[in-house]
Amino acid sequence: MHYPYQITSLEQYKQQYQQSIENPAAFWNDVAQHFTWKKPWNQTLEWEFTSPKVQWFQGAQVNITENCLDRHLPQNAHTPALIWEPNDPTEHQRVFTYQDLYDKVCQFAHVLTNNGVQKGDRVCIYMGMIPELAIAVLACARIGAIHSVIFGGFSAQSIADRLYDAQAEFIVTCDGAYRGAKDIPLKAVIDDALVGNNTVKRVIVCTRTRTPVSMLKGRDVWWEDEVKKVESQQQKHFPAVAMEAEDPLFILYTSGSTGKPKGVVHACGGYMVYTTYTFVNVFQYQPGDVHFCTADIGWITGHSYILYGPLCAGATTVLFEGVPTWPDAGRFWDIVDKYKVNILYTAPTAIRSLMGFGIGPLQGKSLSSLKTLGTVGEPINEEAWHWYHTHVGKGKCPVVDTWWQTETGGVLVSNLAGITPQKPSWATLPLPGVAVQLVNDKGEEVTEANEEGVRSGNLCITAPWPSILRTTYADHERCRTNYFATYPGKYFTGDGALQDADGNIRITGRVDDVLNVSGHRIGTAEVENAINMHAGVVESAVVGYPHDVKGQGIYAFVIYQGNHSNDEALIRKDILQTVTRVIGAIAKPDKIQFVTGLPKTRSGKIMRRILRKIAEGEWQHIGDTSTLLDPAVVNEIINNRL
Ligand code: WT7
Repeated sequence: MHYPYQITSLEQYKQQYQQSIENPAAFWNDVAQHFTWKKPWNQTLEWEFTSPKVQWFQGAQVNITENCLDRHLPQNAHTPALIWEPNDPTEHQRVFTYQDLYDKVCQFAHVLTNNGVQKGDRVCIYMGMIPELAIAVLACARIGAIHSVIFGGFSAQSIADRLYDAQAEFIVTCDGAYRGAKDIPLKAVIDDALVGNNTVKRVIVCTRTRTPVSMLKGRDVWWEDEVKKVESQQQKHFPAVAMEAEDPLFILYTSGSTGKPKGVVHACGGYMVYTTYTFVNVFQYQPGDVHFCTADIGWITGHSYILYGPLCAGATTVLFEGVPTWPDAGRFWDIVDKYKVNILYTAPTAIRSLMGFGIGPLQGKSLSSLKTLGTVGEPINEEAWHWYHTHVGKGKCPVVDTWWQTETGGVLVSNLAGITPQKPSWATLPLPGVAVQLVNDKGEEVTEANEEGVRSGNLCITAPWPSILRTTYADHERCRTNYFATYPGKYFTGDGALQDADGNIRITGRVDDVLNVSGHRIGTAEVENAINMHAGVVESAVVGYPHDVKGQGIYAFVIYQGNHSNDEALIRKDILQTVTRVIGAIAKPDKIQFVTGLPKTRSGKIMRRILRKIAEGEWQHIGDTSTLLDPAVVNEIINNRL
């Protein structure tokens, strides 16, 4: 069985791509027919990239959860919607059919409204990877509240900044979360984040680890108690609130080249259509398949390809609480065998880390259910691609290398599993509706190719697709300057890319000051700000360098003038502690080099190009340093490099 909008041949892909570029409105108008709308649209697309303003399905009313849940009832009531695999493999899994999930989401929608949450309110969700996280997200969508999920690895300070930016009034969290051998005290972090906060009215706390927590009278309530109230009042069905297609569905914070993360806003209608369309086409999902995306719901990958895309398609999606290497490095393979997973979607960093354990952990695992493998989040090196293809896919599963971003909502460039050709370390072809263009630094289309016919440039998209970000929360100007001003009239991705004569795209990495560490996006300015907050630090500069497992590591050059202790190792640890407090452990530098000065131009600008070369071990190729204020500082930095 195929979905009506499923592409089933290369020929068809080419034809649809052509049509979608010539007339995007007509193309998406057809795809959108296959969804449940409360009211049809007046106009499929209206846009300009100056303000920018993008409106898809204007005038339509929709609720994405009606497409995720109600639409599959009663005919798929007993189909598993969500399979939850706990952190500890000896604990029981939990399986939610579409009926179960519907019931739970309606129930929690009542809990939210009983606690005063209304359409348009911002609800911050800070939870571990348990079914209640999925339920909380969907319940927000059901009542039209705007969810903002924050990854469990962010610090109290990061949460506080996001709560303030979103003016959030509600939080859903857990007492704690399990991740491998670790036990993370989520509620305690929330308590710290709420010191001095005056917008949050209610915190709903779900029990997971039953670690002792403080529950503030009048503000904090237990999830379980609230659910009991709903049960005793016989509150069951919760009618899905009618949302305008362009109403915000959620905010997700992500890093950029400035010090402050921005709240990317996605809209209800377009996001629903595009994530579902891409889920079905990229992975070539067939009804009955089991889909396992290993991302965390705290990132866009989890939003789009654990929850919304798969559920709208009526798929069975696996939610895994733990980590790939605990209790041992065979955990993913155990899960694949246990649930007969057909589609496995993970990050290159996970593949590289598992590669490090050799093929031992794969032995005795069948993996015969696998049909499609996917990667996301960072460029995949050929070695990792081949290992994945050969040892996990046994040479018979296509590997889709999916390139996209928090801002794009769904996959923009990828091969379609088994339908369009794969090419190791290339994301390959743009999806229908995605008008890619490589431009030079002046914004002119790159036409010149090397002898192999490959062009190189900054990757832009010249027309909107349905799940393009609509704004950055409460700061539309920021959205414009970040994405639409560098090359007027185009959406600029921040990535550099190559394109071959067949149109295949290879992502070469960020061309702005954004790092990609283990598939997590971190702004260098953010890390610098955090380091600079440490007493004794005068100035710092942060760059990325190639890292075998993480893809990129964080290298910090720090001018330090504290004099209480001269123990460099200790000062390094103190700085790491500060970064952990300010941002979270994910932003900790891998290397900290103390320097007496930084290479600066006469106008005072740090020459990152030079620092990057040193961090990459390419210090012999630094080039001209004569324009520097103090060229001698470069030699000192090179001599003391780590
Ligand atoms: C950045 C976006 C999209 C979900 C996960 C990351 C890099 C993403 C690939 C890929 C090469 C990739 C880009 C992009 N990236 N996928 N398949 N090949 N690079 O989302 O945190 O918004 O980061 O991740 O540099 O701009 P994100």
